[in-house]
Amino acid sequence: MIVPTRVLFQHAYGKYALGAYNINNLEQAMGLFKGCIDSQAPFIIQISKGARSYTDKRMLEAIIRTADTIWPDALFAVHLDHGDEETAMECIASGFYSSVMIDASHEAFEGNVATSKRVVDAAHKLGISVEAELGMLGGVEEHVSVSEENACLTNPAEAEEFVAQTGCDSLACAIGTSHGAYKFSGSQGIHFDVLREIQRRLPGFPLVMHGSSSVPPEEVSRINAAGGRLKEGAKGVDTAQYLPSAKLGVCKVNIDTDGRLVWCRVHREHFANKPEDFDLRPPGKTFMAEYGKFIAGRNVLLGSAGQLEGAREHALATA
Ligand code: G3H
Ligand code: 13P
Ligand code: ZN
Repeated sequence: MIVPTRVLFQHAYGKYALGAYNINNLEQAMGLFKGCIDSQAPFIIQISKGARSYTDKRMLEAIIRTADTIWPDALFAVHLDHGDEETAMECIASGFYSSVMIDASHEAFEGNVATSKRVVDAAHKLGISVEAELGMLGGVEEHVSVSEENACLTNPAEAEEFVAQTGCDSLACAIGTSHGAYKFSGSQGIHFDVLREIQRRLPGFPLVMHGSSSVPPEEVSRINAAGGRLKEGAKGVDTAQYLPSAKLGVCKVNIDTDGRLVWCRVHREHFANKPEDFDLRPPGKTFMAEYGKFIAGRNVLLGSAGQLEGAREHALATA
């Protein structure tokens, strides 16, 4: 059942975080739904601009609607990930999305406020909630100094002002994470001091953590052992930090890269072990099973596992 993102946030706030998983195809959808039902977790499906154009956005929507009928007990929201203004407006008008993200974080503060507010105004007319972003992710490279890194982080005082001026429903904060398979080096990690101060200024307001993949070293090693050439030694987010982040108001934890690593490992190992094989179904089957296990495991770490019935009762009570 598709439910409003805001309802899921209300149930999760301060207790656990919802896994927000990106999907591009039916194999990811099948693994995601199975993993969330197996772990009894509510969840968020994210669709990026790139995912919408990978095949055809109607295909992805049809996959999600069909998965909803295959798993009638699933409880989830559908979210546009990293939307620009045009895509966000399109998704709002489509009637399919529970929430959209407007990512105008590359604009200066005033421009970001103006763009985000236009999207919020359009979305709220139709009861859709909006995630906006303040701060810059992705500054965490080896060559970036600590002062440069801190300059990219969300300024808590600005966050308070930004939420007041835009009326957005959740905020993606830059707290030290970055997208992709190469994240932290050395002792870098989540800036809990920044997170704590944002929560102090915005009590009860849902925060979002992007770039939350953990980039498991064993996945990277297995991919490379099967012919891949990923840089080893790069660290992602420490999964033990998901729950402490949730307690500080992070309701949504975005995970995409780790799922792509599972896909890559399964397919590389399959064809390395069976070079005579050319069929897509055997590795596809293995991937769906492995991705389902991965999702269930992440939900345990996020604290969303076992929350399905409570979240459903809350959703029905607020409907
Ligand atoms: O943050 C970006 C997400 O991982 C989506 O990636 O734009 O390649 O679909 P994508
Ligand atoms: P990762 O690249 O860490 O999976 O982050 C995904 C994300 O933030 C999607 O918006
Ligand atoms: Zn992101």
